[in-house]
Order: sequence, then C-alpha cells, then structure tokens
Amino acid sequence: MLFRRKWVVSFVAGASLVLASLLLAADEPNFTDQQKIDFMHNAKVTASHQVSKGITGPPRLTLTDGTVTHDASFQTVDEHAPTKQMNDGTTFLNFKDDWKFNIAGYRIAKLIGLDDMVPVYTDRKWQGKQGSISWWVPNLMFDEGDRLKRGEHPPDMDSWNHQMYDLRVLTQLFYDQDPNLTNVLIDKDWKIWRIDFSRAFAEFKSLPVQKDLVMCRKDVYQKLKDLSYDQLFAATQPYLTKGQAKAVIARRDKIVEILDQLIAKNGESNVLF
Ligand SMILES: Nc1ncnc2c1ncn2[C@@H]1O[C@H](COP(=O)(O)OP(=O)(O)OP(=O)(O)O)[C@@H](O)[C@H]1O
Ligand SMILES: [Mg+2]
Repeated sequence: MLFRRKWVVSFVAGASLVLASLLLAADEPNFTDQQKIDFMHNAKVTASHQVSKGITGPPRLTLTDGTVTHDASFQTVDEHAPTKQMNDGTTFLNFKDDWKFNIAGYRIAKLIGLDDMVPVYTDRKWQGKQGSISWWVPNLMFDEGDRLKRGEHPPDMDSWNHQMYDLRVLTQLFYDQDPNLTNVLIDKDWKIWRIDFSRAFAEFKSLPVQKDLVMCRKDVYQKLKDLSYDQLFAATQPYLTKGQAKAVIARRDKIVEILDQLIAKNGESNVLF
C-alpha cells in the first residue's frame, strides 16, 4: 500500500515536471538578445529557488513584466585572492571567481559567432546585490555530468562532435579554470549550452590545453581572425581589464596559429566545418 502511494506520488511529481517543461517551452517568447537583456534588467522578480547544482548555488529567479514570465539565474560570486586551495588540493595563484566574467564571456561569444551556445547574460541588482543574470535555457534534458552517468548517447554524433569542438574553442579562448561538466547543459534537441564563466579570463597568453583544438566552425574561425583588440575591449567594458582583454587576443592568435597548422597538415575540409 505504502509502496503504491509512493509510486503514485513520484508519478505525479514526474508528470508535473514534464508538464512544467512543456508549459515553459510553450511560453518561450520570441525575444531578440536585446529584448532578453531589457527584460532581465527590468522585470519584477516574483520568486526565487535554490539550485542544487554548482558550487556557489546561484538562485533561479522567476521574472515577469506583466506579459512575459521567464526564469533566470542570478550569480553574485566575487572572490579574489592571491592564492586559493581548492577541495581537491589544487592551488590557484591570483584566484578570481567573479560574476562579471559571465557577461564578458557572453559578449565575446557573440563577437565570434558562438552566442548560439551561450545564454544571454547581463547585469542586475537584486536584494541589494549586484550580479550577473542569465536567461534560463528552456527544455533542458540534463547536464553533461548527468548524461555520462545515465549513459545517454546523442542521436547525431557528427553534430554532437562539432558542438563539442566549438565548445573547446571557447574554453581555450576564455582560459576557463572551471570547465566542469555541470557547466555544459544539453537541451531536448541535443543542443549544447555553455554557462558559467566566473572562473575564466586568467591573464595567461598560452592556452590551457592546446591539444583540445581539433576542428572549428568556418565562420567562427573567420570571426576569430577578424577580431581586433579594440573591438574586444570595447565590447567587454566594464567587465574585463586591458590586461585580461590583451590575454584573450594573445590566446586568439595562438588558436588561429594552431588551426592554420592543422589546416596545412590535414587539409581545410578536415579542420573547418
Ligand atoms: N541560464 C541557465 N539556464 C539553465 N540552467 C542554469 C543557468 N544558469 C545556471 N543554471 C543551473 O544552475 C547551476 C549552477 O549555476 P552556475 O554554474 O552559474 O553556478 P556555480 O557553478 O555555483 O558557480 P561558480 O562555480 O562560479 O561558483 C548550473 O550547473 C545549472 O544547472
Ligand atoms: Mg557552475
């Protein structure tokens, strides 16, 4: 009897979750990035929930402007330290975990044409705290960590691999020191989304894992090549310093150099897609 009641409760809970996702999908407004930014700046927060994933546990907010209701993630982390020892024993020098880098990440992704894998991020003040706010990605199935645990496989391996190669370009360009699997989200169309750049933009001119660069989307490669320091610096104000922006450009140079070497060795059609 008890077993049956439990089963009914979990069935109802599961069905509600599916229904909530379907309703969210149906409600997804056809907003431009600028409209999402305006909404996240101005809409009223009507609810907040704690998210179980992540280290700092940023709240998931529900916002409404009276017509549209949508969720967003609010991140206020702002930790700077000369040295920081992590739980796994790794020590970082000049440690920075800062919400401002989330916005810089989104803006650079937009400059190089990879903003289709990064939700819109902007700034917002809530409950007296300044932070970043990001458009909640609709129709999520799981994050990459959960996908691996569940042994789920993408239906289209080529499309999946291409998305993964693009993701690696972002990680190398941003020098992300926290590219953990809960920061890679997968939606019901097996589209990959990358969130959380709060530990990126270390001022290193080399790449964290050079061998990760294998292939790159053609338009992204061209946009990387065309990107100037002035453009990058202007687009990331006031979130990146000159030194951080210069380091991004130095890593961009390195990425283009490596892709060019791969093209020379393996042929363009085996590197650019
Ligand atoms: N825009 C978003 N859309 C959907 N889910 C999100 C979004 N932002 C965050 N999440 C969910 O919330 C979790 C925690 O968010 P996030 O990664 O930004 O914080 P965090 O890992 O605690 O941050 P940090 O590591 O910088 O302290 C994510 O793993 C993801 O499950
Ligand atoms: Mg995270």
